[in-house]
Amino acid sequence: MSSNSARFITLEGVDGSGKSTQARLLKDALEAMGHDVLLTREPGGSPGAEEIRALVLEGEPDRWSAETEILLFTAARRDHLERTILPALAEGKVVICDRFVDSTRVYQGISRGDLREVVDKLHALMIGREADMTLLFDMDPAVGLSRAKARQTKEERFEDFGLDLQVQMREGFLTLAKAAPERFAIVDAGRAVEAVAADALAAVKARL
Ligand code: TYD
Repeated sequence: MSSNSARFITLEGVDGSGKSTQARLLKDALEAMGHDVLLTREPGGSPGAEEIRALVLEGEPDRWSAETEILLFTAARRDHLERTILPALAEGKVVICDRFVDSTRVYQGISRGDLREVVDKLHALMIGREADMTLLFDMDPAVGLSRAKARQTKEERFEDFGLDLQVQMREGFLTLAKAAPERFAIVDAGRAVEAVAADALAAVKARL
């Protein structure tokens, strides 16, 4: 595999967009092609970052301000990057990460005021790594939200912000994708799981 191939792949989308299912299917497909694959997620993906996950995803929507969240998500990301992502890439693995900094750009950067610049500055300072390729699973946020709520977990802080915010999040992701077309592939996630998986795999194959 050439050293400049797209090996760090991130998956993004609104809540309930089916990313996690697609992440597993993509892992299976890439493994069947002979790749060594690590599947991981944010917030979390390392023991320390999983502890931060519980802090940010559980509790009342107003538990943290957006500014505090940026610090918590970035702290979790730094630990995840150091302990999980970079070592796996160094071993030659393909890394599939369910959410990364684009989620912070959208969920914290635009949800409660304009904090995009803060997110980007902190990212440059403490993370300094973009994905080689990002799959955006795009779908109607109302459908996504009803799916996400049907799961009934304790991790509903962001879902509890409501539909208006999810609509804003979708627009935010699409705006990011338009600004960086060389990194993003947009997949229509409002279809059957197999059809979505086939498109996602084709997009990855084109760049791997
Ligand atoms: P996730 O577990 O991926 O939930 P889902 O499978 O429903 O997409 O993500 C949990 C929540 O964390 C999700 O609502 C988005 C939020 N989040 C942020 O707000 N900022 C971030 O930087 C990340 C990584 C996630």
